[in-house]
Amino acid sequence: MTSENTRPVRESSAPRHIAFLSKTLAMDFLVPAYREQFPDAALYLGDDLQALIASGHSDDIDVAVCWHPPAEQLAVLSGLKLVQSIAAGIDHIDLGSLAPFVPVCRIIDTEMGSGMTAFVCWAVIHRQRHMDRYIEHATNRRWQEEPIVAPVRHRVGIAGMGSLGLSCARALLAIGYDVRGWSRSPKTGLPADLKAFHGETQKAEFLGGCDTLICLLPLTGETAGFLDLALMRQLPRGAHLINVGRGAHLVEDDLLTALDEGQVGAVTLDTFNIEPLPPGHPFWNDERILITPHIATRTAPRVIAQQTALNFAAISKGRAKEVAVDLERGY
Ligand code: NAP
Ligand code: GLV
Repeated sequence: MTSENTRPVRESSAPRHIAFLSKTLAMDFLVPAYREQFPDAALYLGDDLQALIASGHSDDIDVAVCWHPPAEQLAVLSGLKLVQSIAAGIDHIDLGSLAPFVPVCRIIDTEMGSGMTAFVCWAVIHRQRHMDRYIEHATNRRWQEEPIVAPVRHRVGIAGMGSLGLSCARALLAIGYDVRGWSRSPKTGLPADLKAFHGETQKAEFLGGCDTLICLLPLTGETAGFLDLALMRQLPRGAHLINVGRGAHLVEDDLLTALDEGQVGAVTLDTFNIEPLPPGHPFWNDERILITPHIATRTAPRVIAQQTALNFAAISKGRAKEVAVDLERGY
């Protein structure tokens, strides 16, 4: 879906009762967009949702809009027709708390794609052109040139060639970087200049050519702990690691070992095992690690509400398979 449509989408079937569930986020920022998109629906969050559950009418809820939803709340919503993640990932939802066959949908959005692309291009350029050093020089009023390597001689690898990875790849290619991508399965329709790799058998070859490695994988049973010491030792020495996937992709102690060995030269992390990153965490004091607070990209509430409407309508017409995440695959 694109984000150009600023009006509510109008669908013949619309939910009547929508709940907003999160353990970590105040979800009221979504309410105006959902009111506009679903003027006839009742919206429940916070105390109103608790009261509905306590009254025994929680099966009225037909849509749960989620970011790290409490499993015990999700489990009692027995009338759900749609679980809508407000994110690209669905790893924050405890699928075990859902009745079987409830469709779970995620966000796929061009605005989210351009936000991620801008962030990733910045992160690559920041280290590859030594902007960190120039910032330090400037604070000392020092006019000092750092080595300049043309983008074409810097190899950028993207693990995860999905909707976000592909958007980043196109932009990095347009800048002139030597870009490679890795996916689970072979892919068609990729940009001609992109070097494509897939599966475990081509992973080592992919990693061996990543002066910068970007993790844009979904978090699944297969990808948890993807960024471990064994992987880091397959990268070119001194590589820059960027994690914009999930904190659980990274084995944190392994990263510190790889940095101490000089195997990894620099790190940009946007996602963490524990968010917010605790003040006492060793990453804060490590100048080799640049930390951003899970802000690589966002989706506008209006788009989340529109996608909820489109997903609900598709599910109501028996087309759940077209819009729902493949829960067997996990992404
Ligand atoms: P997507 O469209 O589902 O793409 C996922 C990609 O990962 C696909 O290319 C898939 O391969 C590949 N993949 C999955 N499992 C794999 C495995 N075991 N080995 C190799 N490749 C594998 O996902 P997306 O929309 O691009 O989003 C990716 C992730 O970015 C999200 O799940 C989320 O964790 C993260 N994210 C972070 C932020 C942030 O602000 N930091 C914002 C949005 C999203 P196939 O093509 O073969 O299926
Ligand atoms: C954010 O992290 C997302 O998955 O959209």
